[in-house]
Amino acid sequence: MPHVVTQSCCSDASCTYACPVNCIHPTPDEPDFHTAEMLYIDPVDCVDCGACVSACPVDAIKHYSTLTAQESVFADLNADFYREPRPRPLLAPPVPALQVRSGADLRVAIVGSGPAAMYAADEILTIPGARVRMYERLSEPYGLARFGVAPDHQRTRRVTRQFDTIREDPRLELILGTQVGVDVTHEELLASHHAVVYAVGASTDRRLDIPGAESSCSATEFVAWYNGHPDFADRAFDLSQPNAVVIGNGNVALDVARILTMDPEALAGTDIAGYALDALRRSKIEEVTVVGRRGAEQSAFTVGELIGLCSTPGVDVVVADEHLDSLPDSDPRADILRGATPRAGSRNRRVVLDYLLSPTAIDAGSVRFVRNELVPAPDGSMRVKPTADEHAIDAGLVLTSIGYRGVPVPGLPFDEASATVPNTSGRVQGMRRTYVTGWIKRGANGFIGTNKSCAQETVRSLVDEYNAGRLLGAPV
Ligand SMILES: Cc1cc2nc3c(=O)[nH]c(=O)nc-3n(C[C@H](O)[C@H](O)[C@H](O)COP(=O)(O)OP(=O)(O)OC[C@H]3O[C@@H](n4cnc5c(N)ncnc54)[C@H](O)[C@@H]3O)c2cc1C
Ligand SMILES: NC(=O)c1ccc[n+]([C@@H]2O[C@H](COP(=O)([O-])OP(=O)(O)OC[C@H]3O[C@@H](n4cnc5c(N)ncnc54)[C@H](OP(=O)(O)O)[C@@H]3O)[C@@H](O)[C@H]2O)c1
Repeated sequence: MPHVVTQSCCSDASCTYACPVNCIHPTPDEPDFHTAEMLYIDPVDCVDCGACVSACPVDAIKHYSTLTAQESVFADLNADFYREPRPRPLLAPPVPALQVRSGADLRVAIVGSGPAAMYAADEILTIPGARVRMYERLSEPYGLARFGVAPDHQRTRRVTRQFDTIREDPRLELILGTQVGVDVTHEELLASHHAVVYAVGASTDRRLDIPGAESSCSATEFVAWYNGHPDFADRAFDLSQPNAVVIGNGNVALDVARILTMDPEALAGTDIAGYALDALRRSKIEEVTVVGRRGAEQSAFTVGELIGLCSTPGVDVVVADEHLDSLPDSDPRADILRGATPRAGSRNRRVVLDYLLSPTAIDAGSVRFVRNELVPAPDGSMRVKPTADEHAIDAGLVLTSIGYRGVPVPGLPFDEASATVPNTSGRVQGMRRTYVTGWIKRGANGFIGTNKSCAQETVRSLVDEYNAGRLLGAPV
């Protein structure tokens, strides 16, 4: 078992193209790529060449012999993925090169500078002669790769080195501190470029519609605050009470629960905002309860992030037996959570994972919930049905973490239900020379690298139209 993919996998799939024996899956052309929690190396076929290690932008791939004790579980996760045979060609299908009509002078404006924007620029700049002008509203680039990824996820943050390399191309001009729709209009961009690609992300969050919700804060705000986002630097969070509740149990919920409970000294030396580190040093929080409305099996966090939480020094992860027992033995989370059972008498801070609870009201000092039972929906998923049972959890701080949400882009159509811009393979419906990529295109889901194949699809649509002569602008 020579190489193993570990926690910081960003699914950009660079490793799958670098691998000479096609032993890393799923690849972007395979149906399970978009639902997989990470990529996995087949331990039998790996030839130990290390090409994937060099290709990975976030240092997620390690040699088996260098795994730490906490990371050794990833060796099993990688191997388990190949327990069922996976028919596949000996070599991964090459990505078809972009074919552009000769005399290309393609000029593209990209709005935003997060992962989706950077991958789109990288793809466009494979075309000789093409130029990109990128507009970012903040004075620092890279979107959530800079202002979302948790400060203790240093390996993931290294993806920004790859973005720095893309940025060094002299054919890319990055204009910081400029908000499209305020400082420059869509029409102005169209007048000087063949096409405009919006990669503006999902800058707000879903809100709970329950009494007292206005007294809670969102994980979106808390994350932006500890990461030094200029719009959130003056926020204050009540860390003076021993209990906090996080509503929702996706990876963002685990990020905020971990940051609230881990030793702040482990964050010193990262690029966490200084004011946030000071506040966390003074924090009185002892226990964070992360609450899911469905059962343990429906937890939205990924296995890799659960392993990361369970191996955080000084933090105990606690789950009631009834929830643990509801996990089938085949679910890797069952073993991880059983292995994390705290020592008797532990004085560590605690993250409690609780389930089958929907919030009904937020009062001063507590959150009220109704207990749910699970019922199968016609599509095979599990939905919740409220019971008559109520439950309350004390909380000085309540963070809602129920997903991010896109906001309308001035002049572009907007679908309220999915909070995305309606598009066909990235081409904005009903508009000419206008494209979307990333979270504003497909909704707030997926890893940093998921935006790479997303951006490639958008750029392919754009180039097809350019080649067909349909991007008739007045480029400068
Ligand atoms: C808290 C959090 C932690 C995460 N951690 C990880 C992780 O550890 N690993 C991982 O693989 N994935 C992680 N993800 C997922 C990953 O960050 C996203 O998949 C990715 O950032 C989405 O990219 P995007 O470019 O679509 O949006 P964003 O990253 O949000 O980028 C959008 C950019 O557009 C700019 N912008 C918006 N409007 C305008 C405008 N009008 N004019 C100019 N600029 C504008 C914004 O300022 C921003 O820079 C995390 C997500 C969150 C929310
Ligand atoms: N380290 C990483 O790789 C990393 C870190 C952070 C984020 N990300 C990615 O970024 C994306 C966004 O993450 P996220 O955590 O914000 O979202 P998410 O994964 O979609 O999780 C949202 C959570 O909110 C719950 N929820 C939604 N509406 C609710 C309601 N009305 N009441 C109660 N609960 C509700 C969901 O429960 P249901 O399941 O029941 O709907 C789910 O538990 C994800 O794809 C994530 O993997 C990755």
